Amino acid sequence: MYLPETVLTNKDIEAFCDTTDEWIRQRTGIEERHKVTPGEGTSDLALRASRMAIKNAGIALDDLDAVICCTVSPDQILPASANLLHGKLGLRDIASFDINAACSGFMAGLMTGNALIKSGVYKTILLVGAEIQTNRMTWKNRDTAVLFGDGAGAVILQASENGYGVLTTHLGSDGSNYEVLHLPLGGSREPFTKENLDEDAYTIYMKGPELFKRAVIKFVEVSQEALDAVGLTMDDIDLFVPHQANARIIEAAGQRMGIAPEKVVMNIQKTGNTTAASIPIALHEAVQEGRVKEGDHILMASFGAGLTWGAAIVRW
Ligand code: UT7
Repeated sequence: MYLPETVLTNKDIEAFCDTTDEWIRQRTGIEERHKVTPGEGTSDLALRASRMAIKNAGIALDDLDAVICCTVSPDQILPASANLLHGKLGLRDIASFDINAACSGFMAGLMTGNALIKSGVYKTILLVGAEIQTNRMTWKNRDTAVLFGDGAGAVILQASENGYGVLTTHLGSDGSNYEVLHLPLGGSREPFTKENLDEDAYTIYMKGPELFKRAVIKFVEVSQEALDAVGLTMDDIDLFVPHQANARIIEAAGQRMGIAPEKVVMNIQKTGNTTAASIPIALHEAVQEGRVKEGDHILMASFGAGLTWGAAIVRW
């Protein structure tokens, strides 16, 4: 994983945004988030995380068959950040493409990568979640500006022996409610113009409380779907690695699912919401902290813009 060096605390934000450290901590659990320096792009963060993943997995660059980058904040509108990452890593002419499934991006990437390996198309895949959100926030829109952070997390996918690895993956979406969380400006329907390019127009719109309720419900539903698919119960889960959108969402979902708090990975205090990067970052930290043992069942789950949701169970 990689988090940019610059840290933006809630107190720092108080200086230029109509908010307080107390409000942010109480309503979200966030204390600080990391922020890129000007000129840094999403593929730069992805590169750092990818190099670490390649080293930790003990593979050579030439072993890679494909690069998948999950992001909603690509370096440029065209081409994909996975292409930039491919170039920066100096890879041979293998496939590289982005997946845009917002906060469920890593779950979508894992489903895709897993299917490609299981079907024999590829042997080794670099899967990255990488986002830069802080430089496209309108600080006048305190509802969303305080929530997000920058970062990247990466994994290497390869086939494993039976009974281990990715046991099941699940995705769902509800496109009819996309307006609950969206960034309308700058796409094909509302391109940038001189007129709309003022600070207020370019911002993420979010119906926070509505999203909150749906997130808790879907976290629980999709997690149960994953458990049912492999005949496990919540008691079999050793670690729950949820998307980090809000500490209160994670706590509420964890309670409803009946999972012990010590089995829940929560790092939102230090990262904020890093969208598609949040699950691989949290997973990496859990591994580094010795919270993952061989044979453990790890449940991951996500919910976010789209609306999208997903879950996966991995036997480590
Ligand atoms: O990863 C993608 C998925 N994202 C999510 O799932 C986010 C889900 N939603 C949430 O996490 C929460 O709804 C928020 C953190 C966004 C908001 O928390 P909330 O407890 O739902 O607050 P609220 O929107 O109901 O607003 C409560 C009050 C309002 O003031 P009044 O009307 O009660 O006077 C807001 O104007 O808090 C105010 N408020 C703020 N105050 C200080 C909203 N944002 C802020 C802020 N600082 N940053």
